Amino acid sequence: MDRKLLLEHVLVEGINGIDGYQKKGGYRALEKALNSMSPNEIVEEVKKSGLRGRGGAGFPTGMKWSFIAKPEGVPRHFLCNADESEPGTFKDRYLMEKIPHLLIEGMILSSYALGCNLSYIYVRGEYMYIIQILEKAIAEAYHKGYLGKNILGSGYDLELAVTCGAGAYICGEETAMIESLEGNRGNPRIKPPFPAVKGLWGRPTVVNNVETIAAIVPIVNEGGDAYAKIGIGKSTGTKLISACGNINKPGVYEISLGISVEEFLYGDDYCGGIKNGKQLKACVPGGSSVPILPHHLVCKTANGDQRLMSYESLSDGGFITGSMLGSGGFIVYDENQCIVKNTWNFTRFYHHESCGQCSPCREGTGWMEKIFHRLEHGHGKIEDIDLLWDIQRKIDGNTICPLGEAAAWPVASAIRHFREEFEWHVKEPALCLVKNYGLVGINIPVLNNA
Ligand SMILES: Cc1cc2nc3c(=O)[nH]c(=O)nc-3n(C[C@H](O)[C@H](O)[C@H](O)COP(=O)(O)O)c2cc1C
Ligand code: SF4
Repeated sequence: MDRKLLLEHVLVEGINGIDGYQKKGGYRALEKALNSMSPNEIVEEVKKSGLRGRGGAGFPTGMKWSFIAKPEGVPRHFLCNADESEPGTFKDRYLMEKIPHLLIEGMILSSYALGCNLSYIYVRGEYMYIIQILEKAIAEAYHKGYLGKNILGSGYDLELAVTCGAGAYICGEETAMIESLEGNRGNPRIKPPFPAVKGLWGRPTVVNNVETIAAIVPIVNEGGDAYAKIGIGKSTGTKLISACGNINKPGVYEISLGISVEEFLYGDDYCGGIKNGKQLKACVPGGSSVPILPHHLVCKTANGDQRLMSYESLSDGGFITGSMLGSGGFIVYDENQCIVKNTWNFTRFYHHESCGQCSPCREGTGWMEKIFHRLEHGHGKIEDIDLLWDIQRKIDGNTICPLGEAAAWPVASAIRHFREEFEWHVKEPALCLVKNYGLVGINIPVLNNA
């Protein structure tokens, strides 16, 4: 059975308020840190824990923290990335809704460790009710003396504010988020310089994901070594997974990293298997930006090893036969789902969300979307499949930020693993339309020749 470090008390009544949270040990880590730990000691514990960023890239958090520049007399900032707009990912929303103080305690601990006195939580604009929950929780924390001047008599000051996201997926990219916080359009910046050197208002800044920040609380409470004992290899600790699609039990699960994908997908404690007794067709294990895995590569790697819920195992085989843990958005497709239609859907999203700064992303996502539209509507040509392949190749690696790659990888993996399905759309357009849209009786040949 998994250790629950973040969601252990999620079902306790009143846990969303400060009194309920304190009854379950809340703010104990903060008291411990401010009474007996220096900022550097916290950074060392985080390094020992092996915690990796839960926003998608999996970069080691302790290492990121140690990069922050410390020029004399220049303020530093700590930012929480709560923009969560990746299709299939809804774990941060759950955590903030149910246990807002866990995030706030993590924010104070992290800000203290990094020497920041003004921090922000940047929340996706569509999560308006979450903004209200967080504002209430922050007011409670100020009232108890956990925020503001001279916190718990330690001499440490911290102001914490929530800001409303600007309504674009790209604002989740950390430099776009910084631009947006500064009041500008959320366009990603060219790096270097990285935010740790030149971030918000040109000052050293660290950006972390909601779940990463919440994990600082158990790390300070129990120590980095204890945290590192959970998990497998370099995938330490627990991870929130938002599971959706054709499964019996969609929801947010906290798993110990290293359990098998098979157990997660079919086990009664997790997804509970494929809905309506159908067969598994494919799975996107880490949010819409990561490669899709066909059914035979979901629970096993290409070498026949058991596939595990870990950074390493999910990417085993690279992009040829593997994928990524990403943001932990686990999307499951049964035998009836159309991969072309699904990939078109993702491509539409990325085209809509491209900020337009780089031509390969701006033009390429739109071009791919048009081709998918043709394929889905009975106008596709067999050359379109190679054209799609060529376009995604030219986006990948040629853009300012990773949104371009996020748009390219699902297309590449869909063609790699499901080429026959693309061809079927060209050869049997009428059947595809009937299957995907139930369009019986329309004049398919006319559509096909248009
Ligand atoms: C287009 C795009 C959208 C992103 N959206 C989010 C997001 O909503 N939440 C998040 O934590 N990270 C998001 N990221 C990753 C952030 O840029 C950054 O790596 C992350 O917030 C760092 O936190 P971590 O180290 O704790 O994972 C996004 C990246 C890209 C390229
Ligand atoms: S890759 Fe796309 S979203 Fe990212 S900066 Fe370039 S155009 Fe904007």
